[in-house]
Amino acid sequence: MKSELLATFRATFLRSPEFIARAPGRIEFIGNHTDYNGGTVLGAAIDRGVWVGLARREDQQRRFSSGQRRDIVATSAGAPQRRSGAESWVNYPLGVIAALGEFGLRAPAGFDYLAVSNLPTGAGLSSSAAIELASALTFVASMGESPPRETLVKVARHAENHFVGVPCGILDQGVSGFGRRDHLVFIDCRGPSFDLVPLPAGAHFWIFNTHTKHALVDGLYAERHRECMEAAAALGVAQLVEVSPAMLAAAEGKLRPSLAKRARHVVEEIARVSACVAALRTENLTDAGRLLVASHRSSQRLFENSTAELDFLVDALVIVPSVYGARLTGGGFGGAVMALTSPEFGDAEARQIAAAYTQAFGTAPDILHAKTGDGAALQ
Ligand code: GLA
Repeated sequence: MKSELLATFRATFLRSPEFIARAPGRIEFIGNHTDYNGGTVLGAAIDRGVWVGLARREDQQRRFSSGQRRDIVATSAGAPQRRSGAESWVNYPLGVIAALGEFGLRAPAGFDYLAVSNLPTGAGLSSSAAIELASALTFVASMGESPPRETLVKVARHAENHFVGVPCGILDQGVSGFGRRDHLVFIDCRGPSFDLVPLPAGAHFWIFNTHTKHALVDGLYAERHRECMEAAAALGVAQLVEVSPAMLAAAEGKLRPSLAKRARHVVEEIARVSACVAALRTENLTDAGRLLVASHRSSQRLFENSTAELDFLVDALVIVPSVYGARLTGGGFGGAVMALTSPEFGDAEARQIAAAYTQAFGTAPDILHAKTGDGAALQ
């Protein structure tokens, strides 16, 4: 990807970038909608991502281009203004510029900027966090700054929450920032604190992207967020992480049935994340796989953010002997399923799943045998 970035940068801006950064996409391994509830979550950075190149300009123009859309979006150096339509992808780097100020950092007044990606978009692999982190890295480097990685992760999340407008937690940006090859990132979202858990040898990831996206996906994500906050308030805590399973059992009656289901999912999912860390630390992929399936069932029945397509894939995958477990990955309401498999699961098995899916839904899912990769860094 670096050579593609360099070639496209030169063709677009007739010069070379001074700073280059890469940030990976991520897989949500387990911990569905736990992050903004102060809980814990496990994710993996993958070996695909977004590359950003940047060269400073003498004037006050900020010019953005991407590998997908060759046209240039030009803005002035003032406070970033939101873009819409075909230009809306620029809201990610613009959001980062706006967020930097909140952390005492800055972007240059003028620059040429290019982003290229080999991450499938809309696959639930968080291309948005990747572009935010790669942008943040080039902006601060071009100002001679090298803030701690944790600050960059917070900048990226701030951009997503306050400029892009998604009330997400810190999972995507945290994993893209702290990922490491052959490891999972464990995040305790209350700190937040970031740790690495080795991925046992012989564990493989397969992603099945349904390309389905609920028309109201952003609204539904925000609705789940609101329901969780409402449940926490009714239970007398600031965040659902403070609720133990016993507390919930005693107080569940205070909640409307839908809120009780959301709360139960979050409380039990946080416990599953801890159990999964323990399983991984003892290299017990069978137990880890069982927890993944339990997580999916909980998303399906209690959090109600799965779809018929995602359930179909999980049901088809879990009966394959080389599959340890499978679950929806990311926000839900469409998107992708992740399977944790042994090395025996290969293209033939994946094609069989895809064929059954095509028969049921009339379209083929995209399949990605994803490898883990390193977190965001200057190149
Ligand atoms: C999306 C959000 C994350 C997280 C997941 C669900 O990926 O960006 O912050 O909430 O959904 O676990």
